[in-house]
Amino acid sequence: MEQKKRVLSGIQPTGHMHFGNYFGAVKNWVALQEKYDCVYTVVDYHAMTMPYDPRKLRENTWDLIFNLLATGIKAENLCIQSLVPEHAELCWVLNCFTSYGLLTRMTQFKDKSSQSADESGDGFISAGLFDYPVLQAADILIYRADYVPIGKDQEQHLELTRNIAQRFNNQVGREYFVLPEPLFTEVLKVRSTADPERKMSKSLGPKHYINVFEEENRLRKQVRSAVTDTGDTPAGEMSPGVENLFLLLSAAGRQETHDQLMATYRAGELKYVDLKDAVADALAEISAAFRQRKAELTADKKEVKNRIKASSAEIRKRAQETVREVKELTGLQNVKL
Ligand code: TRP
Repeated sequence: MEQKKRVLSGIQPTGHMHFGNYFGAVKNWVALQEKYDCVYTVVDYHAMTMPYDPRKLRENTWDLIFNLLATGIKAENLCIQSLVPEHAELCWVLNCFTSYGLLTRMTQFKDKSSQSADESGDGFISAGLFDYPVLQAADILIYRADYVPIGKDQEQHLELTRNIAQRFNNQVGREYFVLPEPLFTEVLKVRSTADPERKMSKSLGPKHYINVFEEENRLRKQVRSAVTDTGDTPAGEMSPGVENLFLLLSAAGRQETHDQLMATYRAGELKYVDLKDAVADALAEISAAFRQRKAELTADKKEVKNRIKASSAEIRKRAQETVREVKELTGLQNVKL
């Protein structure tokens, strides 16, 4: 029997899951579970690289776990990064196979460190933020993942991961680490309904994202207030706001409605309120199902937490095996004390 290929992805525990996260990543993760052997990890070690509140970190980590389960990620595929501390151990070893020069060229580091240097930040830039891509490489390589579902913004980190793996393999004289490939399937860029020039994002403020667990009235209100035409779109072109609403409709699986409304639009007869209502209906239906699942899960939080601890322990066994082999290959001590 052919072994299933392995998929790994990580997600940062930053509170609220919005439809941009869902349609842009999580929905795809759910689907990948059918075809691949998947590990999804909530990367709390990564979340320490920028200024943060320890109490909130733990809360957000569990909150994200419940959200991921409610949206269809299977418990056995899910772990919390800090429950598998071998990620951090492998990160150290990989640091010694990482080119300092390459690391200085990471654009996410440049973006985030300049964020910290300006208005919002206090100017503190941690070495952890600089080293973040190496920890990400450890996340991927530790499970010998074949594929990593990512957006374009993470392409450079995956390229670095391959570089590190290659250097390690050269050093140890065998193809020990799998060189992982990106999976770019179905990554949709959902925009903010309040400012369709920008990506739907939590950091822009509450008007700029729609929570997938949002209560129906508020969800409908948010969709109804979506910016459609601002008047500065050239004649004959669709404005980003309208395009975004059509994208949401199609992402939500309402292709037929999408096509009908698109035909009306092309005929110059579309009333935006009809488009908005259709989007609101579609999102509200998805949201209602997720809210119900989440309510069921949170009814017995302890049981769910225990399940995730157990799955983390199970997933950890693979990570431990890799670290044992890596220590063997690199000349580190590899004996049980
Ligand atoms: N860096 C990713 C992001 O910012 C999160 C991440 C951490 C990740 N480890 C990973 C993604 C491993 C894919 C694989 O979104």
